[in-house]
Amino acid sequence: MSQNSDTAQDAGPQDGLQGGPTGPNHVAIIMDGNGRWAQRRGQPRLFGHRAGARRVREIVRACPDLGVKYVTIFAFSTENWKRTQTEVSGLMTLFRHYIKKETRALHDEGVRVRFIGDRVRLDAKLVKLMDELEAHTSANTKVNLTIALNYGGRDEVARATQRLAQDVADGRLDPADVGEETLPKYLDTCVLPDPDLVIRTSGEARISNFLLWQSAYAEYEFIETLWPDFTDEIFANLVKNYAGRDRRFGGVKT
Ligand code: FPP
Repeated sequence: MSQNSDTAQDAGPQDGLQGGPTGPNHVAIIMDGNGRWAQRRGQPRLFGHRAGARRVREIVRACPDLGVKYVTIFAFSTENWKRTQTEVSGLMTLFRHYIKKETRALHDEGVRVRFIGDRVRLDAKLVKLMDELEAHTSANTKVNLTIALNYGGRDEVARATQRLAQDVADGRLDPADVGEETLPKYLDTCVLPDPDLVIRTSGEARISNFLLWQSAYAEYEFIETLWPDFTDEIFANLVKNYAGRDRRFGGVKT
């Protein structure tokens, strides 16, 4: 697809945001296939989600050696509320347990944790744990783990637009100054670089409302492996594949 606009994005990622010389600095992951993984074993879906949660630790641990500074995982979407009450409440319990259980290890490994998504609909106890984990790990710099929880790309853009419109209404922002670089400042991801590589497991080739704005120039990997079977070795191979990609950001090869 040819790009006609000559934009800041076309110039490539901002200086200092790249990881290794050729590797992805920021990898975003749609962790799909937990339900099928469990069903194939004759187990309830939550069995698969629990197995999936264990994989998160392994993947975060692998990041420093692979030169990946940012990893963002899709844990619960704004659409996932449509699942059965049993699955939704089981997932919410899993998130609470995960935070309590993993806080120490994440901190000891130098991981800074952030959450993106709309917290308004989340249980107050869970939100408190999320706030505490963010605060507790806020000085860490080795890896940046962002967990998307009650997150939807369209919802994020709508919430960002609402805040932007409020700034206009309050006279803090002139509509004439609104450009491509303005909206990202209002997104949940405002402190994060854009993802370089988006991985989706389980054979589905769609992005399901994940990081819509931010992934405009990302490379994609859709792989058959179900998330609970996703190992650090598979992760390392995808990171290596990325090094072979020719990213032109709408420009031409020189
Ligand atoms: C998609 O698989 C997965 C989810 C909706 C939940 C993702 C959650 C985890 C991996 C576990 C917890 C994560 C953290 C951070 C503790 P699916 O259920 O849609 O699978 P299916 O397509 O096979 O049904």
